[in-house]
Amino acid sequence: MLTAVYATSVTVNLAPADLPKEGSHYDLPIALGIMAAIGAIPPDALVNYTVLGELALDGTITTVAGVLPAAIAANARGHGLICPHASGSEAAWASQDLDVLAPISLIQLANHFKGTQVMARPRPAVRGLPGAQPDLRDIKGQESAKRALEIAAAGGHNLLLNGPPGAGKSMLAARLPSILPPLRPRELLEVSLVHSIAGDLAGGALTDRRPFRAPHHSASMAALVGGGTRARPGEISLAHHGVLFLDELPEFQPQVLDSLRQPLETGEVAIARANHRIVYPARFQLVAAMNPCRCGHASEPGFTCHRQPVARCIAQYHARLSGPLLDRIDLHVDVPAVAAADLMLPPPAEGSREVAERVAAARDIQVTRYAGLGLPGILSNAAAPANVIEAVAQPDAGGLALIREASDRLHLSARGFHRILKLARTIADLDGATEVGRTHLAEALTYRIDTARQLRAA
Ligand SMILES: Nc1ncnc2c1ncn2[C@@H]1O[C@H](COP(=O)(O)OP(=O)(O)O)[C@@H](O)[C@H]1O
Ligand SMILES: [Mg+2]
Repeated sequence: MLTAVYATSVTVNLAPADLPKEGSHYDLPIALGIMAAIGAIPPDALVNYTVLGELALDGTITTVAGVLPAAIAANARGHGLICPHASGSEAAWASQDLDVLAPISLIQLANHFKGTQVMARPRPAVRGLPGAQPDLRDIKGQESAKRALEIAAAGGHNLLLNGPPGAGKSMLAARLPSILPPLRPRELLEVSLVHSIAGDLAGGALTDRRPFRAPHHSASMAALVGGGTRARPGEISLAHHGVLFLDELPEFQPQVLDSLRQPLETGEVAIARANHRIVYPARFQLVAAMNPCRCGHASEPGFTCHRQPVARCIAQYHARLSGPLLDRIDLHVDVPAVAAADLMLPPPAEGSREVAERVAAARDIQVTRYAGLGLPGILSNAAAPANVIEAVAQPDAGGLALIREASDRLHLSARGFHRILKLARTIADLDGATEVGRTHLAEALTYRIDTARQLRAA
């Protein structure tokens, strides 16, 4: 940036001109450029600094989004960073050696450069753990749904819970974060970058908690997949390396749901702008819940719909979900209404802590396996590409016979076939088994039978 000051006018040149510039990040660099030009700070003070920040009229520097990626870029260029005070601890994460200046106001920065009030380097902050999380122990009965939740958490698989209102679907999903393993350092940085761009890092602090995003079913396309005037990351990117929970799945707009298909496959989303294209990561785990029909009771024995035959009521509701979306869901679980007798039982002996230990052990096996194959970027079975999963989930003879028979019977797509292998691999990992056996495949197939049924109905 070049700034020249003449008697009556100030000329600021933001080069390169063809790069679109958005946001209030340029306030602080423009002001500092002018201050250096008029001698309010030493003329060479800004050499080797990358600067961003918004300026209030009284000279205080207010926070902007995207400080963490800016700090990483500054570090790569061998620059220091000048950023708003509130973003200092976010910037400090980029590198221990990065020179970070995070002033509250222009005056504080000018005093720093003059040497009258030298600022300390901000410290990287970690967000404290939120209060007690809901625990799986609160859920009575529903053993098969809990097992499916554990498998989904262990391998990062997509899950659909289907059952009547009040069966505990939302309750189950809300307990998923309590059994997910913490983010690994590499994941933490990727997640924080997206949240930084979205201006979502509270107080500049990072956390190793996996994101859990639960947008309402009225969410727009831009809110879910990203975009809008500032090409902000959407919920699917904010759920990167975490969970996107869509409650009442068929109530979402069908086009919005279909826009999830491509990111579900590739783990990223491209947002086209007038003259450039932004790609955000979006490797999220989809967890969805739905009622079997609009009235919600079609799965109850003896229920008769007052509007039309029950089968048609179910089919109409399911028709709102496209086949390709359902095909991407690995675990499809029926959650029946919980019986009063079950509700009166004492709480189950096993809670989130015990399940989380098994999940963490299975994830460690996966990370070690893919790192051993020279694929350190793959951290879960769900993220493994088809050719890799074929190699690592080769079933034994019994398993092979089973999957051959099942793929004919269920009319499995190639995607469906690979997804079953991934699921069986996770079930074997939870079991501590090196080979995928017939029992692992048999269990994986039970979660697919409902998908096949629903695909035919759709
Ligand atoms: N298995 C269960 N054990 C204990 N309480 C349950 C169970 N299922 C449902 N409940 C109770 O019913 C309420 C509604 O559950 P919710 O998860 O909202 O149902 P759904 O999402 O299936 O409509 C819960 O807040 C809880 O009080
Ligand atoms: Mg619910």
